[in-house]
Amino acid sequence: MRKNDAPVYYGDYLKLDQLLSSQLPKSDEHGAHAHDEMLFIIVHQVYELWFKQILHEMQSVVEVFGKKYVDEKDVGVAVLRLTRVTEIQKLLVDQLRVMETMTPLDFLEFRDFLFPASGFQSVQFRLIENIMGMKPEQRLLYNKQAYYQNVTPDHQEIIKSSEKQASLFQVMERWLERTPFLDFGGFNFWEHYRSAVNKMLKSDRDIITGNPLTSKEEKKKQLLELAANEESFAAVIDKTKHNDVVSKGKRQLSHKALQAALLIQLYRDEPILHLPFRLLTALMDVDEMFTMWRYRHAQMVHRMIGTKIGTGGSTGYNYLKATVEKYRVFGDLFNLSTFLIPRSTLPDLPAEVRKSLGFAYAQQR
Ligand code: HEM
Repeated sequence: MRKNDAPVYYGDYLKLDQLLSSQLPKSDEHGAHAHDEMLFIIVHQVYELWFKQILHEMQSVVEVFGKKYVDEKDVGVAVLRLTRVTEIQKLLVDQLRVMETMTPLDFLEFRDFLFPASGFQSVQFRLIENIMGMKPEQRLLYNKQAYYQNVTPDHQEIIKSSEKQASLFQVMERWLERTPFLDFGGFNFWEHYRSAVNKMLKSDRDIITGNPLTSKEEKKKQLLELAANEESFAAVIDKTKHNDVVSKGKRQLSHKALQAALLIQLYRDEPILHLPFRLLTALMDVDEMFTMWRYRHAQMVHRMIGTKIGTGGSTGYNYLKATVEKYRVFGDLFNLSTFLIPRSTLPDLPAEVRKSLGFAYAQQR
């Protein structure tokens, strides 16, 4: 690394003059100084800085996984970067406590000066949602308009074009689809999984029907529950049924990707699958932390403005509450736990498979 020849000055390097002269309360402009507006501005600015860092990390992960061949080293780097995102997200959730030191009455001192500005216009937040892989059709209609209608035309273009760019969800799905383990060296994972599931469900049925202590009605109830369970396994095992669930918007991942994710979960203790397992875990962590943030932000909004409409014109708390469940991207990975079966019911990976594969996905040439 080349050493710097000109001395660097702390304040210049960090552009502190610009940064620290960027807090201009609207209440002062209106000659009605509101003490807490400074906190309101700084908290939002800090969020935007962290959003920038999150985008920086996510873009690098998309780049790595967007390549045709993913190097083993890069998978580790991606896990580290996603873990960093999660640590930042924890700060973002915690930071709401600082915001909440402002009371609703103090907020009213300057709230009216802010119309129609709102966090709803945060371009970086939309970019994060889109790079995660949120689908446009998944979004709630906001005043019967697209979610980007109330930002400037330039910002609309930026947001719309981000919908078309590769997302974490897409690159991860493709990467999963490429896993060579599903059918390798004579070892057909899906066949083994299918037969283990059938064995497990048959054993459940035998237990129910053979239990001398349950009544006829109770047995009937249990068998109905078992049938629902069988149906739900069938919707994972059978490709046509899976595609049907996908077409109804109840599942997102392709059948192949889902199979690979399941294999990674079930065989996660194999050294070669441990890093992929950590990657899937990191993706779930990031998704879950966004859900946490949405929930906490909605609670804060409820406490701050009750059920008034937002400065951006939405129904406020009710709108935000609805996004908590709806705006999830990696829900399929969470649902995968439904289809886990005890490890003892599956065969070990054949030695041949373990030996032939140094590491997984880089070797797909
Ligand atoms: C007093 C504090 C706050 C209040 C009362 C508040 C209120 C609201 C409301 C009512 C909405 C819904 C859109 C609207 O009609 O305006 C919203 C959206 C949003 N706010 Fe806040 N907010 C506060 C603080 C924050 C902070 C500190 C951030 C951090 C950046 C933030 C980020 C967002 C984002 C990103 C959205 C869009 C959410 C979505 O559409 O899913 N808000 N906020």
